[in-house]
Amino acid sequence: MKYLVVGGSKGIGKACTEILLEGGHEVIVASRSNSEISHLPIEHIELDVTQDVSELEDFEELNGLIFCPGSINLKPFHRMDIELFKQDMELNVYGAIKTIQATLPALKKGNGSVVLFSTVAVSQGMPFHASVASAKGALEGLTRSLAAEYAPDIRVNAIAPSLTDTPLAESLVSNDKKREVSEARHPLKKIGRPEDIASLAVHLVSENGVWISGQVIGVDGGMSRLR
Ligand SMILES: NC(=O)c1ccc[n+]([C@@H]2O[C@H](COP(=O)([O-])OP(=O)(O)OC[C@H]3O[C@@H](n4cnc5c(N)ncnc54)[C@H](OP(=O)(O)O)[C@@H]3O)[C@@H](O)[C@H]2O)c1
Repeated sequence: MKYLVVGGSKGIGKACTEILLEGGHEVIVASRSNSEISHLPIEHIELDVTQDVSELEDFEELNGLIFCPGSINLKPFHRMDIELFKQDMELNVYGAIKTIQATLPALKKGNGSVVLFSTVAVSQGMPFHASVASAKGALEGLTRSLAAEYAPDIRVNAIAPSLTDTPLAESLVSNDKKREVSEARHPLKKIGRPEDIASLAVHLVSENGVWISGQVIGVDGGMSRLR
């Protein structure tokens, strides 16, 4: 099978790339850099999803798309400039929309599946998350809407992680104290590893997920449902 992982060069996306390769699949990664995956047998497309993504229109056929770029800009709401909301929408939502539109014909041809990433902060109100929760909330709506519009040809799902140990979350777990506090906040008393999230993403885009569409699934150490 042939999969496109946008943002497959770091964090959760890199873990997706590695799991797909282990499964013997063909993987194309699109991201701004490739230094962390230059050793892997993949095709790399240098691309910024906030800019022109027309290069992604060239695929003949794709069996799946995993779209990973995202942000965590945490601040008190009164200090959030409207520009921050716009930037978060640009990356998380418009980036996903442009990417899906560019690859739609190839996904249709390959009976493909799309996985997007939300956050636990959409279903659980969390202070300082107004911007990212707004953008990811839009992404959840997009997930369900596209899943309905393109069934039965293309499946569309989202994963809503809680804090996961990736470059994006580095500043939130940058010392032992911060890490311990974050672990203690989760009912399962640990934060996520990239592979904890990536294994579900790969399940969803693969044949294993053939009867799953329109879902937003929490992979969050119990954070969204347990007290
Ligand atoms: N980590 C968490 O705690 C957490 C929690 C909740 C939700 N999430 C969500 O899960 C998803 C994956 O997160 P992550 O932690 O793995 O993020 P990450 O470590 O920042 O990795 C993001 C990937 O996207 C690429 N990327 C970023 N901006 C891009 C752009 N403008 N154009 C093209 N590629 C771009 C990065 O590569 P380049 O830098 O090379 O472009 C990288 O490969 C995100 O949507 C995030 O919002 C993460």
